[in-house]
Amino acid sequence: MSMPLGDRPKPLHLYIRTFGCQMNEYDSLRVRRLLAPLGYEPVADIEEADLIFLNTCSVREKAEQKVLSFIGALRRLKERKPHLKIVAAGCVAQQLGEKLLNRFDHLDAVVGTRGVGSIAQVLEKIELEGVRSVCMPEENPPEPDEGGREMFGSGDLTAPVTVMQGCNNFCTYCIVPYVRGPERSRPVADILHEIECLEASGVREVLLLGQNVNSYGSGLSDRITFAGLIRRIAENTGILRIRFTTSHPKDLTDDLMGCFAGVDKLCKHLHLPVQSGSDAVLARMRRRYTASDYMAKVERLRSICPDIALTSDVIVGFPGETGEDFRKTMDLLERVRFDNLFSFRYSDRPGTQAAGFADKVDPKIGLQRLIELQAYQAEVTQQKNLAEIGLVREVLVEGASKASNGQMSGRTTHNRIVNFDAPSDLCGKIQRVEITGAYSHSLKGDIMGWVDDSACPETNILNRKVLTFPKPC
Ligand code: SAH
Ligand code: SF4
Ligand code: F3S
Repeated sequence: MSMPLGDRPKPLHLYIRTFGCQMNEYDSLRVRRLLAPLGYEPVADIEEADLIFLNTCSVREKAEQKVLSFIGALRRLKERKPHLKIVAAGCVAQQLGEKLLNRFDHLDAVVGTRGVGSIAQVLEKIELEGVRSVCMPEENPPEPDEGGREMFGSGDLTAPVTVMQGCNNFCTYCIVPYVRGPERSRPVADILHEIECLEASGVREVLLLGQNVNSYGSGLSDRITFAGLIRRIAENTGILRIRFTTSHPKDLTDDLMGCFAGVDKLCKHLHLPVQSGSDAVLARMRRRYTASDYMAKVERLRSICPDIALTSDVIVGFPGETGEDFRKTMDLLERVRFDNLFSFRYSDRPGTQAAGFADKVDPKIGLQRLIELQAYQAEVTQQKNLAEIGLVREVLVEGASKASNGQMSGRTTHNRIVNFDAPSDLCGKIQRVEITGAYSHSLKGDIMGWVDDSACPETNILNRKVLTFPKPC
């Protein structure tokens, strides 16, 4: 018998693999924080792991298949390292529960989307009782104490913060309400506390998360809206930048739109999934807005904040989508000209209403539509990136560029990636960068000067002083 994890020399190596959306990214971060006091340190190489934590996604069939084949491939590793523990969490775990444990006998535990906070107890159970287990609470268990501020020191400059979970919308294609449960908002004080801890650990930008952040506040004793929460964070914390995702168009209020002009720390970017430009398709999707309702919101947003960046999600090949319906989606894209777009071919999800709809679109036609739409959008994104050349943008320096060309990288308020030459000690500072080049997924630029945020009251970034900085040759 191999030595139990608890008796093995510390640190123990934790390998986390996250599939799916930022909700899962956030849950994975929590697991890292919760397991740190038990002696777990994250590792990048799966071969070194004592514990593998998989956070899974089931939003489309392809995503689920990817997860299942990844789990299958871990059998070999487990055979070579019998002390290795493997835990599958997230949306596939929630959806399949015990079936997942039965299908893969090398899995040690399956943890549902509301069980992430109990990860330490799940591990203890595996260790002490030596049994494989399923942890699928119906309700979120009381939030475990994630310890003091030191727990938040991951070294990141940007961090996700979940403000609400779950969804009550039940769009007919979507599995999320089934795997994430009904909407629950977190109390304001918890959110502010978490952001203060993150700020103390060096975080400069937060991404507020929820399946539908616009519903934030319902069910809370705090009597607060999402716009109110943004203002509280801007006024009561020293965080430099706030972003959020995702907003349902039907619930986008004037008050929230007003924040893009009235709250300086709120980045000028809104992800507003439209899904389709055809009213008939939108009705069958149960989105509860029409294409003209959506356009009216876009126009209002642009009148409030003319240079706001807009991104969206689109599904093509939804059951019953005709060629004419698809043209209406293309018309809408042409009218809005999104800065960027995430587009998907419709995928049947078990248990959703649309899975039972007749008139499924031939997958080949779906693919053709996707290719046409993506080609069009790639052109628009490129044109929008080219239009940035010559402009000076404020960029939060986040670290070394992924292109590994020795440059640094950061994002503009509009969420465009910019690469530029800069010393690494400028990480976490907001830079003024002149855009000098544009590619399909990023920009390049030259630093103009750096913004000294230590020279002004923490809560008022409007007072920041711009210092000149010699341009690298
Ligand atoms: N809460 C977010 C979306 C979460 S899922 C919102 O309401 O906007 C992310 C995206 O996946 C969706 O916006 C949709 O475009 C896509 N998606 C969801 N279910 C899908 C399915 N069954 N087939 C294809 N795409 C899907
Ligand atoms: Fe899914 Fe619709 Fe809820 Fe978004 S709003 S998570 S698409 S059901
Ligand atoms: Fe996927 Fe679950 Fe997010 S299904 S998209 S990981 S909420």
